[in-house]
Amino acid sequence: MADFEPVLSRNWNVPDSHTLPVYESRGGYQSARKALTTMDPDKVVALVKESELRGRGGAGFPCGLKWSFLPKDRKETFMCINADESEPATFNNRLLMERDPHQLIEGIILGCFATKASTAYLYIRYEYINAYRILEKAVAEARAAGFLGKDILGSGFNLEIYVHRGAGAYICGEETGLIESLEGKRGWPRIKPPFPAIEGAFRKPTVVNNVETLCCVPHIVERGADWFKSIGTPKSYGPKLYCISGHVNKQVCVELPLGVTARELIEVHGGGVWKGRKAKLVVPGGISMGFLTADELDTKLDFEDIRKPGCLGLGTAAVTVMDDHTSIVDYLYNTTRFFAHESCGQCTPCREGCAWIYKTMKRIKGGGGRLVDLDIMLQLASNMGMMPGTTICGLADGASWPIRNAMAKLRPELEDYINTHQEGVRQITPLQEAIFAGQLAEPNLISISLPILNKV
Ligand SMILES: Cc1cc2nc3c(=O)[nH]c(=O)nc-3n(C[C@H](O)[C@H](O)[C@H](O)COP(=O)(O)O)c2cc1C
Ligand code: SF4
Repeated sequence: MADFEPVLSRNWNVPDSHTLPVYESRGGYQSARKALTTMDPDKVVALVKESELRGRGGAGFPCGLKWSFLPKDRKETFMCINADESEPATFNNRLLMERDPHQLIEGIILGCFATKASTAYLYIRYEYINAYRILEKAVAEARAAGFLGKDILGSGFNLEIYVHRGAGAYICGEETGLIESLEGKRGWPRIKPPFPAIEGAFRKPTVVNNVETLCCVPHIVERGADWFKSIGTPKSYGPKLYCISGHVNKQVCVELPLGVTARELIEVHGGGVWKGRKAKLVVPGGISMGFLTADELDTKLDFEDIRKPGCLGLGTAAVTVMDDHTSIVDYLYNTTRFFAHESCGQCTPCREGCAWIYKTMKRIKGGGGRLVDLDIMLQLASNMGMMPGTTICGLADGASWPIRNAMAKLRPELEDYINTHQEGVRQITPLQEAIFAGQLAEPNLISISLPILNKV
């Protein structure tokens, strides 16, 4: 990776990198100038398609292809920029917004020009107050300089960007939950189809893109699709911001070509596992993606290889390292608590599955677990998600993956914990015992049993 030149983070350490004069002095807004004055929108879509830029928000969907799904005869288009960034341990979008907001604004201008959107809503995570303030100032600067507003750079293209703060819910990062929330409603994901490209914000054709995805676009317009495809692995192209946190000596966000191994991230960029210990669990892209074990650290963190050891995907490429003093029980307890709290509750397998898996983990952690609980949790997890087609959005898939990986990779440790932690008080009634024993193991039946359980 010695000859790799960072582009997305190249301004981060320059003083006042968040201001327009500094951004322009480093070549900023030249791509917008080039596209708006010499290219037509379809050419920008074709270029991004050719670059095979895949979405950085989690799903890895090809960006240019998504843009080309918009109906040809549309009258109005909206763009939503997803800056909700609530996946635990993910902070690359925050750095992009705080340290180089004009790079993002230039990406939005290009994305909107390509998709013919004249209104963009930047939906930002509620807790990101600093990034929000910086963006508000940057948008005002860009408007005053003629990069936003009417007839931008004399091209006839108009664009306004509105920065909209979320209210602290993880589910509002899901693109249709985001749209509902933007419209002032409860952030409940919508059933698809119709996809946002056909019917999105205010029922109009809408593109939803992640912050980092859009930040790649000015560089593609400037340097071309071949340059972009020269970085990364055979099917995962371009630069990527990897966040490294947890039990490492250095918690950083580092830009590297897609496909770096987990081992290199930990040992070279994260300064190694802290206290001279060894890594035991490595979450590769936010907790929804499952985990790698110590003998899987040579896995490449790109869109393809990460699936080989059984992870769900690359996700946000936020790598969390847990050392060999970490208990799989604590990891699962914290993870399942998060999902039980964040499930929006619309789909029975997700609402009940997340809640029951968390309750079971709580009991196991408290010393009241039984070996059969592991099978029950796995059965619940297997019924959750878009792959079996039982839920509206991907939260349930993500919630099930830590359980699936734990049962496949570290089940003996869980069994050992259950066998050696039986001293706790059993917070379980005979009726619950019967239910856990199997009669009501199907999630839809468990939901029926809930009122009964609450009475005992
Ligand atoms: C539960 C859930 C939470 C999500 N949170 C985010 C988020 O915070 N930021 C984001 O960009 N994408 C998030 N996504 C993915 C979005 O639905 C969508 O795929 C993405 O914003 C599309 O942008 P991209 O194609 O540029 O990656 C989330 C998905 C799910 C299922
Ligand atoms: S899968 Fe879960 S979070 Fe997603 S819509 Fe259904 S209940 Fe809500």
